[in-house]
Amino acid sequence: MAEDLHIVQGSKTEQYEALYPQIEGLLTGETDLVANLANVAAALKEQFGWLWVGFYLVKGDELVLGPFQGPIACTRIRKGKGVCGTAWAQAETLIVPDVEAFPGHIACSSLSKSEIVVPLIHQGEVWGVLDVDSVALNTFDTIDQTWLEKIVTLIQPAHV
Ligand code: SME
Repeated sequence: MAEDLHIVQGSKTEQYEALYPQIEGLLTGETDLVANLANVAAALKEQFGWLWVGFYLVKGDELVLGPFQGPIACTRIRKGKGVCGTAWAQAETLIVPDVEAFPGHIACSSLSKSEIVVPLIHQGEVWGVLDVDSVALNTFDTIDQTWLEKIVTLIQPAHV
């Protein structure tokens, strides 16, 4: 496994194209879930410099904070609450161009202006979410959705 991430400049697509195989490499041969979630969060944060990149894992009827990069965050989110809990309940990616316009948004950091949340799904069940926050409005689009959905399929849940 390479020890340094190769950071590229360029369009969003070019950045994801360069990052994806590196994330694949990071995960190959490692089955520990926490280690893999931590490295994926770090790789995304390093390449894109977003405010917050991290995971929440389903535990009972809540999402509980997992590995992340960025400012400290809320630890528990109920199903259907906030952007994360809504993405879990709907089992689909949510792109929020302006968090203040999202009813029930949970403000972990006042610096966060836009957000994307991608559910982690195994055999039809959501077992966690990837949450990414940006200091700018309108940061995320369908390019991020496509690539982040592809990246999270590389992560195997702990019980598999
Ligand atoms: N904003 C999220 C909460 C998690 S933090 O942004 C890290 C939400 O509304 O679910």
